[in-house]
Amino acid sequence: MAKFKLEIQRETLDFIASGYTSRPVSFMDKRRFLYGKVFKTHILGTPIIVSTDPDVNKVVLQNHGNVFIPAYPKSIRELLGEHSILQMNGNLQKRLHALIGGFLRSPQLKTRITSDIENAVKRTLGSWQHMQLIHVQEETKKITFDVLVKVLMSVGPGEDLNFMKREFEEFIKGLICLPIKFPGTRLYKSLKAKERLVKRVKKIVEERKLGMEKTDEKSMASDAVEVLLRDSEEGNEKQSLPLDFISGNIIEMMIPGEETVPMAMTLAVKFLSDSPGALHQLMEENMELKKQKTDLCEDYSWTDYLSLPFTQNVISETLRLANIINGVWRKALKDIDIKGHLIPKGWCVLASFISVHMDEENYENPYSFNPWRWEKLGACVNNNNFTPFGGGQRLCPGLELSRLEISIFLHHLVTSYRWVTQEDEIIYFPTVKMKRKLPIKVTPLCNYR
Ligand code: HEM
Repeated sequence: MAKFKLEIQRETLDFIASGYTSRPVSFMDKRRFLYGKVFKTHILGTPIIVSTDPDVNKVVLQNHGNVFIPAYPKSIRELLGEHSILQMNGNLQKRLHALIGGFLRSPQLKTRITSDIENAVKRTLGSWQHMQLIHVQEETKKITFDVLVKVLMSVGPGEDLNFMKREFEEFIKGLICLPIKFPGTRLYKSLKAKERLVKRVKKIVEERKLGMEKTDEKSMASDAVEVLLRDSEEGNEKQSLPLDFISGNIIEMMIPGEETVPMAMTLAVKFLSDSPGALHQLMEENMELKKQKTDLCEDYSWTDYLSLPFTQNVISETLRLANIINGVWRKALKDIDIKGHLIPKGWCVLASFISVHMDEENYENPYSFNPWRWEKLGACVNNNNFTPFGGGQRLCPGLELSRLEISIFLHHLVTSYRWVTQEDEIIYFPTVKMKRKLPIKVTPLCNYR
């Protein structure tokens, strides 16, 4: 028994230790070599089946017949609440996913949000001119938080935004912590911050509901709050979504969007700094677009940004190497056989994306940053071997918005500044971060505007 306990602890320690090296996938690689692409282990207090096989991952993600439910650590479950889209299942998840996905993917939203993203990017990049040292990981968060709050609830710069920034930061500090809940503990403080956030967001939702009664229902919804409120107003058969439910879900939707996009931007800067050839080609492509737009005195549209092929390849390669969400955790509701591997009822499965992204079988020289590989693969593919945004029933609804934000950021960065990066390294546990927040020194190009 003692030997077994020791074995279990060693697995978790090995798993965590690999997250502090430049090869976080070494934990998976070692076991895959010994036991095959799907193996059992015991990490972070849970017996778990790890899949490093893209075909098995696909079945887990598709989740036909609702065999799998999300399985997050206890602290995350507590903070999300059972009615969060990230945790719920069945018809309500599908309904919410379709509503939010439809809104975030719509060309109308992208048309409207492009200038908001540009403004947020220009505001932040503009402030860099007077800064000695810029910490990219912090600065990019300023851009994406403003955009997120705008998309979800149309809140612009001001007191509400500052309040939400402050409280949200306090809230997410508890996502990965000891699940102990009494005054003074991290989890308790985070739950309190969530209560304050819910109160403020509920006020915004109520005001919007009143305002909506006066507006034209045929026009496009202006944000996620309105999308959910309108759905409540619609059909007679469908039950309305309660205001508390809407407010809670708006906050919970901030979680997957808040850290991921700034980390992708930060890591793009890091990888480009280490790859002068790629940076040069990216700059040329974006300078050409800037020149065209300046010559024609034209504003940029979202399609301009997304149609730059090399820029899209840089983004795909960044997402492949960064593995911001390194995999998803699910729990099986019944016994299921996938490709000859039995996953027993009640067991957790980790569909490991990072193992697939860093596998030589799928990508030649997987550790090298090579945006050109996507010229053959196709930039935006989300096939079994490339799943930074997940797949199937829960495919990230923020996929296109994220790519647009990163494209706009990269465009204005490489056409406005040159930069020198200071020494820093990537840490992969518990989530992907730069050890020193990626410090850089910038020099403005004279044609900055
Ligand atoms: C680079 C940026 C991003 C990455 C890598 C990313 C990744 C992911 C992944 C892997 C999932 C699937 C989780 C699962 O299957 O359990 C997911 C789900 C989700 N993402 Fe993203 N995401 C990003 C940006 C965003 C943004 C900007 C938003 C919001 C505006 C967003 C909203 C969501 C939501 C609401 C879900 C849950 C969908 C559902 O369960 O039905 N994400 N994301």
